Amino acid sequence: MQDTSKVTDTTPAKTTGATIDLPGDWRYAPSRQSSAPVTIADRYGLFINGGWQRPASGEWFPTINPSTEETLSEIAVADGADVGRAVKAARNAYEEVWGPMSGTERAKYLFRIARMIQERAREIAVLETMDGGKPIRESRDFDIPQAAAHFFYHAGWADKLEYAFPGIDPKPLGVAAQVIPWNFPFLMLAWKIAPALATGNTVVLKPAETTSLTALFFASICDEAGLPPGVVNLVTGAGETGAGLVSHPDVDKVAFTGSTAVGKRIQADLAGTSKKLTLELGGKGAHIVFDDAALDDAVEGVVNGIFFNQGHVCCAGSRLLVQETIHDRFVDKLKRRLATLRVGDPLDKNTDVGAINSRAQLDKITDLVESGVADGAEIFQPRCDLPERGFWFVPTLFTDVSQSHRIAQEEIFGPVLSILTFRDPEEAVTKANNTPYGLSAGVWTQKGSRILWMADRLDAGVVWANTFNQFDPASPFGGYKESGFGREGGRHGLLAYMDTGI
Ligand code: NAI
Ligand code: MG
Repeated sequence: MQDTSKVTDTTPAKTTGATIDLPGDWRYAPSRQSSAPVTIADRYGLFINGGWQRPASGEWFPTINPSTEETLSEIAVADGADVGRAVKAARNAYEEVWGPMSGTERAKYLFRIARMIQERAREIAVLETMDGGKPIRESRDFDIPQAAAHFFYHAGWADKLEYAFPGIDPKPLGVAAQVIPWNFPFLMLAWKIAPALATGNTVVLKPAETTSLTALFFASICDEAGLPPGVVNLVTGAGETGAGLVSHPDVDKVAFTGSTAVGKRIQADLAGTSKKLTLELGGKGAHIVFDDAALDDAVEGVVNGIFFNQGHVCCAGSRLLVQETIHDRFVDKLKRRLATLRVGDPLDKNTDVGAINSRAQLDKITDLVESGVADGAEIFQPRCDLPERGFWFVPTLFTDVSQSHRIAQEEIFGPVLSILTFRDPEEAVTKANNTPYGLSAGVWTQKGSRILWMADRLDAGVVWANTFNQFDPASPFGGYKESGFGREGGRHGLLAYMDTGI
């Protein structure tokens, strides 16, 4: 006989009182990844010119584990003087060592770094999960292997740049200032540093203030790989440090991934300078599920596309457009699947949804979800036992969402899915494009011609067909509209770091 557990919608506002019958007991015994392989120092300085330096400010700030709220370490606050020293070190390394070095020699360093990331992958994954809150399954199986893949891929380009752009003799730009966010800390570092170094530039990178530890770990990899001093420099701190870095006059290239608001500010700051700029900003990606789609596959894709990494994903499929005829069936399947997601300890290998990265982000998600309820959308949250400490948000879906609701327009950056309906492909395209963003979309249908028809019309840098969130270093990634400009990855991504004389 099947044993049945009940899942109740416990949300106070607009509670339906509905319960869902689930076959079997979905609880798994804990399977915790040990944090023993990781050593975390009490304090980290700044990595400038191949060595650790004290911040001129003499100031430090704590970085916490968002699943326990425990302080893991103290991180240096870099001020203008520190940023100046880092940029100077990068300039010297560019002029004296890295710029003149042949592509073949540069490639050797990149291959070495890639292999060292693989060798130390478990340590990096555990550190990433402790500092940022993402499930170990994701940092172990996705973030860190992808980061290594980015270094391998770009190592392969370093001595072939003249073939990448035939008839053009591409030159490096010089010093790259790179500012990255907290959702994929180590992977974003790889997306930024690997192409910059492959093309002959040197780097000053600022990680996000809540997730600096894996970047600081990368400093030790640079050191052990024998990378010449000054080729990679790391400055830590919050927005002020980032602003000081991107506006430094001796920087030739700025690469930023983060919020649209900050991206716009950086673009305004750089206007009138000769700095080259790429921006990878927010998104409000849509899944479009047609009635002929393989529905169970689509459910998995939709769940993966928004609950993966707590929805802290710029290309998340945070809206679902489902064809009206299958709405009820599809939503029912989704709710059942949602009820089986395991939320909790990010170091547990069975965890699907980890901790929200910070209290500030949790407040933002809570505010937007409250606006959804106030606007009249119907909320569903499965019953979930959440840990007492730390920052958590129950996977949430909204039905009866209309296009004007904030939850249909604004980036929530949390495990929250807004569901709308459509009748025909034209309406699906109009609704999918009705946001200020243009980063990602997913089309679910068995008709190949319809996929191509949709892909032509969707304002999205990436359109996945019958899948979602697939990545490869060879495939360029980037957005349209307020999602930013420029591409990262692939041959296109090299252009962001090269002067092609055009
Ligand atoms: P943010 O854009 O403030 O932070 C991203 C990075 O930019 C961090 O390293 C931060 O220190 C730095 N930064 C902040 N102000 C800066 C400035 N004036 N100049 C240069 N660098 C600066 O993002 P935040 O506040 O952490 O998150 C707010 C929202 O942004 C999220 O709720 C989410 O919607 C969105 N976001 C989008 C990301 C994406 O991958 N597209 C990543 C992170 C956040
Ligand atoms: Mg942290």
